Amino acid sequence: MKFVELFKTLLLVLSSAICSCYPQGAPIDICDTISHSRNPGLTFAYEAPYALFQTSLSYKPGQVINVSIQRLTTHSTFEGFMVQAVDKISGRYIGRFLDADGLHPMDECSAVTHKDNKPKTSIQLAWVAPLSQRGDVVFRGTILERKTKYYEGLVSRLEPVRNQY
Ligand SMILES: *[C@@H]1O[C@H](CO)[C@@H](O)[C@H](O)[C@H]1NC(C)=O
Repeated sequence: MKFVELFKTLLLVLSSAICSCYPQGAPIDICDTISHSRNPGLTFAYEAPYALFQTSLSYKPGQVINVSIQRLTTHSTFEGFMVQAVDKISGRYIGRFLDADGLHPMDECSAVTHKDNKPKTSIQLAWVAPLSQRGDVVFRGTILERKTKYYEGLVSRLEPVRNQY
């Protein structure tokens, strides 16, 4: 199964679960599933040539934080991604990503994924903090380099110098 289809399937599972089975919202494990997707056709690779950066660690109610996926080597491109926002202390996913070209936000999981599988060299995201709390946020990501290879468990760090790559 192509990863695009895999993600579509996950989205379908997600939305049907939310719409028909859990009128109060998805249980936590569905959102956990999307960030730890397993597929027999995919090979998990260590040492990702990509990094996740965030422009701020702490958030205030409603604050927008920029998040980017950047490549660390010259020739790397990736076809897909999944990024999820997690409160650093509680470990719960929080906030939501703003919609933009090529993005598919999943507000139920405080996550965002790609819409197309064109080769990408970087991705810019904007995350909005919940209106009712403050704290520290980290972003975790999965990068699908191509149909058969992915990197999982990326954790964002504070962007040292903007537009460095
Ligand atoms: C976040 O991104 C927006 C749009 O690209 C930009 O105008 C803003 O300066 C960025 N903020 C930070 C803190 O980098």
